Order: sequence, then structure tokens, then C-alpha cells
Amino acid sequence: MNSICIRSPGRINFIGEHVDYIETYSCPATINLYNDITILKTAGKTIRIYSDRFGDSKEISFDRIYNTSEYDFSKFWYGYFTSVLRVLNDKGIKILSGFEVKVISNLADGAGLSSSASIEVGFLYGLNELFSLGLSKMEIVKITRYSENKYMNAPCGIMDQYTVMFGKKNNFLYLNYNDLTHTYCSLDENLRFLIIDTKIKHSIAAEGYKKRIEEKGKIENILKEKFNLSIREAVIKSIDDYKFYSEVILNLNDATLNKRFNHFVSETDRTKKFYQFIKEKYFEKAFSLLNQSHISLSSLYEVSTEEIDELIFEIQKLENVYGARMIGGGFGGSCLVVANKDLDIDKLKLTIEKINQKYSYKIEFFEIRIDEPVHAL
Ligand code: GLA
Repeated sequence: MNSICIRSPGRINFIGEHVDYIETYSCPATINLYNDITILKTAGKTIRIYSDRFGDSKEISFDRIYNTSEYDFSKFWYGYFTSVLRVLNDKGIKILSGFEVKVISNLADGAGLSSSASIEVGFLYGLNELFSLGLSKMEIVKITRYSENKYMNAPCGIMDQYTVMFGKKNNFLYLNYNDLTHTYCSLDENLRFLIIDTKIKHSIAAEGYKKRIEEKGKIENILKEKFNLSIREAVIKSIDDYKFYSEVILNLNDATLNKRFNHFVSETDRTKKFYQFIKEKYFEKAFSLLNQSHISLSSLYEVSTEEIDELIFEIQKLENVYGARMIGGGFGGSCLVVANKDLDIDKLKLTIEKINQKYSYKIEFFEIRIDEPVHAL
């Protein structure tokens, strides 16, 4: 095989936000927006990468990728590719024959739809086939997450990479982070899914995420010391045991940490309920939980913005909307709206226009479908 083309999708998450790194549950799904990544073997000892999204191409030698220890990949758009190669090298898998990578994308970068995980997973999926690396699907998921953590300076959880790999058309995953397993849940055909791309990109997004991970670390230490429990264990126990929950809050003894723990508990509880309601086909009830999730993300986890809150609360009031919330890491990015087929799109448009005029924003929306995971074309 001399070349391969991989279609690698973005993802949404219905519920279970900011809980992948405490290892409870989420309900993500792959969507019909993707990166098409073509890899072509070439002669020589370099890789050449072209991305239409970044409007740039870059040639880089293997020597530079593997041997420059101070090389900060996170500063460059092509770092998504070089980081993956670097992790492979760290694991003793050294690719040394040249290739070209071409990425054509209809997935907006920085929109909270996981374009980076989509690129990394798709790239490694392609390399694995083209160079017969023998990696399992789970190894690809773990390597690409690790490459974000170690070389892209992003301490993300595993949700995005896992979803891109294991998504399923017309289904979402009920993903259990504790043992990294999932159950597929099918969705009603009459549901409509809309993405609102706020195009709001806050420079604090990466810092904000890191800060949440630090706070999680503090909670982790206190729980270990006082209760000898992991966050996951304490969260699960808190759902059914209010006395225990109050004891944890007392021991955390800090207004910010209390709010964060409250989000972990309530979001995990909602995610479990969401799964139950969907199984029983109570779709409206299930998706109305998205509204509560948004409030929690805004007031307890503090990863929303005032303007996004205003937009979301207006949209939630529209007829035939089951639920709406911000998705992904937060501080801008995208929102998800779940509605039934009678949704009046013009009313949604009007609501968004009002916010655009008020804040001089250029918020856009589009309808999506739940589609295939990463695959070769
Ligand atoms: C980002 C991270 C994920 C996850 C979400 C929030 O997308 O990459 O690991 O933590 O934020 O749920």
C-alpha cells in the first residue's frame, strides 16, 4: 500500500461534561463533520504536511522530530502530527520513511468539536494501516491522548479520542471511564441536532482548563487523605448518600472546590439518569437534562460566559427545543441544541440574530447528524 485516505470525525457530547478526568460517565457521539487525511509514502527522510484549515504546509525532517528534545510542538499547528510521531518514537516505534499528509476539513478548529483529537486519531489510524504498525484501536486512543498531554501542553481527558475511534452512526456512547468500556444507545429519528458555533475564542480557554485540572488535583488529594477514596468513588457514593456528600464538602472547606465537587456529583448523576431515560425512550425528559447541565457548567464549574448563558437561556425557551447547553471544554466554542422535528428554524435564527446584534458577534448555526467513527475511505 502506497497511500491511504482516512475520514476522521469531530464529536459532540450530549451530557457528562468535565467528568472524563474523574473517570465517571459521558454520552458523546461522532458527527458528520470531519477531517479527510490523506497520507502518501514518499522517498526521503522528511514529512510534508498540508492543512487547508491552517492554509499552510510544512516540511520537517525525522531528525528534528525525534531528536530535538527542547522542541515545543504545542506552538505550531503541525504539532498535532509531530507529537504523535514523537510518542510513537518514545514507545520504540520509529517511522523513518518519508510521507506526505494532506488534510481537507469541514470541521472548524477551536469550535469545541474536537478537531484536534480528530486529526490526531485519524493521522495515527492512517499510519497504523500504511506502515502496518500493529496498534490496537485502544492503543491509538491512548497514544493520541498522551500526545496531547505530553507534547501539546493540553491536560485533556480521554473522551475526544475515545469517541472519534468508537463512535457509531445514529448512536451515542454511554462511556464508562473507569474501565474504558461503552454501550451504544440508538436515537429517535425525529430528533434534530443543531450546533451553534459561537466563534467566541477566549484566550483563557487553555488556561481555564488547566486550572480545573489543578483544582481536581486538590480535591483528589483531600479525598485520598481524609477518606482514602478516589474522586470517582467519592462522587458515586455522594449521589446516594447525602450525609457523606456533606462530609466531603465540609472537608474540602473551600468555596471553589465545593462548587467543583458539586458539579462532578450532579453531572454524573444526570448522565446516569440521561442513559436510563434514553433506554426507556423518554427522549424529551432525557434531553431536558441538558438544561440543568448548562446551569451546572455555568454556575458551579464556571466554564461558560455571560453571553453564552444569555443565548442558551433564550434558546431553551423556544417551542420544540428539548434541551440546549454549551459543550466541550468551555470559555466559548460550540453549543448543542436538541429539538424535535417541529422546531421553527426561523425563530432560532431570530434568537441568534438578537444576540449577534447586541454583542456584535457572528454566531452561526448548522444542523448535524450522528455519523461514522474514524475509517478508511
Ligand atoms: C475537552 C477535553 C475532554 C473533556 C472536555 C470536557 O474537550 O479534551 O477531555 O474534558 O473538554 O468534558
